[in-house]
Order: sequence, then C-alpha cells, then structure tokens
Amino acid sequence: MKRIRIKNLLTSPVVGEVVEVKGWVRTKREIKNVAFVSLNDGSTINNIQIVIDLNTISAELLRDITTGASIGVTGKLVESQGQGQSVEIQASEVILYGKCDSETYPLQKKGHSMEFLRDIAHLRFRTNTFGAVFRIRHAMAFAIHKYFNDRGFFYLHTPIITGSDCEGAGEMFHVTTMNLNNIPMGENGGIDYSADFFGKETNLTVSGQLEGELGAMALGEIYTFGPTFRAENSNTPRHLAEFWMIEPEMAFWDLNDNMDLAEDFLKYLISYALENCHDDLEFLNKMIDKELLSRLRFVQENSFVRLPYTEAITILEASEWTWEYPVYWGRDLQAEHERFLVETHFRRPVILTDYPKEIKAFYMKQNDDGKTVRAMDVLFPGIGEIIGGSQREESYDKLAARIDELKLPMKDLWWYLDTRRYGTVPHSGFGLGFERLILFMTGMSNIRDVIPFPRTPGKAEF
Ligand code: 4AD
Ligand code: MG
Repeated sequence: MKRIRIKNLLTSPVVGEVVEVKGWVRTKREIKNVAFVSLNDGSTINNIQIVIDLNTISAELLRDITTGASIGVTGKLVESQGQGQSVEIQASEVILYGKCDSETYPLQKKGHSMEFLRDIAHLRFRTNTFGAVFRIRHAMAFAIHKYFNDRGFFYLHTPIITGSDCEGAGEMFHVTTMNLNNIPMGENGGIDYSADFFGKETNLTVSGQLEGELGAMALGEIYTFGPTFRAENSNTPRHLAEFWMIEPEMAFWDLNDNMDLAEDFLKYLISYALENCHDDLEFLNKMIDKELLSRLRFVQENSFVRLPYTEAITILEASEWTWEYPVYWGRDLQAEHERFLVETHFRRPVILTDYPKEIKAFYMKQNDDGKTVRAMDVLFPGIGEIIGGSQREESYDKLAARIDELKLPMKDLWWYLDTRRYGTVPHSGFGLGFERLILFMTGMSNIRDVIPFPRTPGKAEF
C-alpha cells in the first residue's frame, strides 16, 4: 500500500509527487468550480487540504463527501496558494469508503460541551481536542516504559484479580461467579466463598504494590503499569472507578531516593511531551488552557518543595484562609489544603512527607516518634495529589504489630510477610495516577475526559 499518513506528509512534504491519503472529512466548501476538503487521518491534529476540480467528480460522489465521511484520495502534492497550509493535494481520484449521514451525525462544526461529548465517547475521538488528548496519552504511556527501561527497571505484571486489599480502605469491586439470586451461606451466617470460583473471596485490585514488592525483593527495581479499580463513591473531577496506575518499587532505596525518582520521573515526562507532542500541546494551550505550556515549563524548571506534614499543618493553621474543612494535626488534607500549599503558599509542586500513621496504609515504614510514617505525597498545581508513595516497613515485628493493631486479616497476607522473614531489605515505591498525569499534561479539567471510556458511579457505557 502506498498510502501515506498525513503527519508524515506534512513533516516532509514531497512537492510534485503523487500521493495517496485516507481519512475522515472534517469540512468541505465549494467555491466556483472547486471543492476544498479538509481531511484528517488521526496521525496529527493537522488536516491536509484536498482540492477537487468539480469537472472531474460526479455530482453524486461530491454530495456524499460530507463531514464525517471516510474517503481515499490520490493526487499531486503542490504548494498551497491559500492561507493556513503550506501544501495541498490536487485530487485526481477520490474514493468513498463510508458515507456519513449528516442528518444524524452528532459532531457538527460548532463547538460541543465536554458533557455532550462524554455521552458520545464512541465518536469524540474525531474532535481536535480528544485527538490531541489521546495522542498525548499514548506518548506518555510510551515515555513511561522508556524511562524505566532505560534505567534498568523491569516491567512486572501484577494480578488484576486479588484476594487482598492493599490500601486497606475496603473500596473494592467483588469478583464472583456465584449466582447472586442464590448465594451459598456458611454456618455462621456469612457467605460461603468456598463454593465460589476461586474458593475464596476475591476482588479487583486497588493497587499492584504488594505484589510489586515481592518482585522488587528479587529483581531489584521493578514497575507495574496497569488498571486499578476503586469502588469509592467519589463524584469529583479527579476520581475514576477504573484508572491506570504506574507503580515503581525499589529494593535498597530509602524515602529520599524515592522522592528523587518521583521528581526526576515527572520532569522527564514533561520534557518528553514538550519535545514529542508539540502540535497537540499548542492546540490545547490555545483552546483549552492558556497557561498549559507555561505551567509545564515552570514545573519542569523548578525544584519541588519537600516538607513534613507537621510543618504543612503549621502553615495551614497560620493562614488567614477560610477552610471548608478545618485543619489540625492528625487529619487528612483535603484538596483545598493541598492546592493552597501548591498554588498559593509555595507556588510550585510540593512533596509532603511523614504523615500521621492513622491516615496512611499499614505497610508504611514507622518513624521513631511512634506517630508518623515515611509517606510521601506529590502535590501538583491544578491537580492536588498526583503521586502517593512511601518507604515500606521492612521489619517483620513492626509490620506484624501494625497489621494486628489495625485488625487486618493476617492470614491473607502470609506471603507479604514472608518477604520480611526471608532476606528483608529497606525498600520504597510510589504510585502515579496515569489519568491525573494526563490531566496535568493536557490542561483538561475533568478526569473523565482523559481516559477513552470513563467508569464512574452510575456510568459504564461503551
Ligand atoms: O495514593 P494511592 O491510593 O496509593 C497507592 O495505591 C499505593 N499503593 C501506591 C504505591 O505506593 N505503590 O494512589 C496512588 C495514586 C494517587 O496519588 C492518584 O494519583 C491516583 O493513584 N489515584 C486515582 N486516580 C484516579 N481515580 C482514583 N479514584 C484514584 N485513586 C488514586
Ligand atoms: Mg494517596
């Protein structure tokens, strides 16, 4: 096939040559004896202009070339006389692949609201905005693998179906093949899971971390990159029920190493996007968020503030701000507090460390003060928490005591505890929410618009 993708055609145009392109019609206008068709094939945000001499095309075919129709065009690439493009194709042959019923096609030239486009998520890829977002999403996924591969980390596939609750928050989707109309009950009134597919209670994973740690205890540095699921009923622009997470886990790394990695990693991803997603970022900067590019550059060029939670509370308590949720030591920070620190007080990304142990997960390394743990949350402008991580508790006794204290099911975690009995080492890791990263990279304001098919409470269409 000699078809050339429009991106390649526009980056290195071979003026004077006959080329073939295929794509979807964005617009068509007719002036005197010519029709100008703007064609997009998804390879780039830019369209190629097709010039059709009306004497060379049947009236029927011309009528069917409407917004949304799919066509193939062969013709000579020439320098363009018109404004807005450097080259165009003088069509010698046009074939129609699929008509597009203009009466019912929901994408019209006028701008549509994000809410409307969410309801037609099967078609929204065809808009400039979503084309840009999903090309950037791809570039980020690729850059993440490249970053870790270049640094000797191994990509570890952790299970989607698990029997444990990593974060201990109990916000899990159950996995079962039991007949929900006839659930087998055990002797003491509870459900008899021994009759279920796995012979035990299982759920969709909320995080690959616990299994990731097992890998790191032999492979050294690993990362996971997969879907995770949370059945939390949070209807916010920052939460999804199904989202993707990147979780590096490193043996012999302490919390400072972990923070260095998080900062370097995020800056690398910004540089990668600036270098490789230029046209899409320019478009989003113009149409979606005028401060996008300057914010990306600012975060890339400035070091992140590193601050213990206790000091952050002092700052928040001293501020004149009126909070919706009051702040005091021991309480988890709300989005308003995180954003105050990042956007108003420090005006740059902040890594908060050493949170009270009560508001963090059981596996975090306990500090000598008996009150705090070696946690770290990376807070970003416009986003709030983008990364959550920690140094892990490597002492068997301390970890077992904490599991006991929290009344977590010790018997389900025997394999996790084994790593602390057989050659335990200090180790650390974190989780980056992929969609929160894409929000930051694109300037989009709702997390439902940076994943192709969002799953949120009450919504699982497509
Ligand atoms: O802070 P979280 O819950 O941390 C963990 O799951 C750890 N096991 C990670 C680790 O140390 N390996 O989640 C990590 C990140 C958050 O900072 C956030 O970016 C994202 O995952 N996240 C969500 N993104 C979208 N929708 C949700 N419901 C999310 N919950 C967490
Ligand atoms: Mg967190």
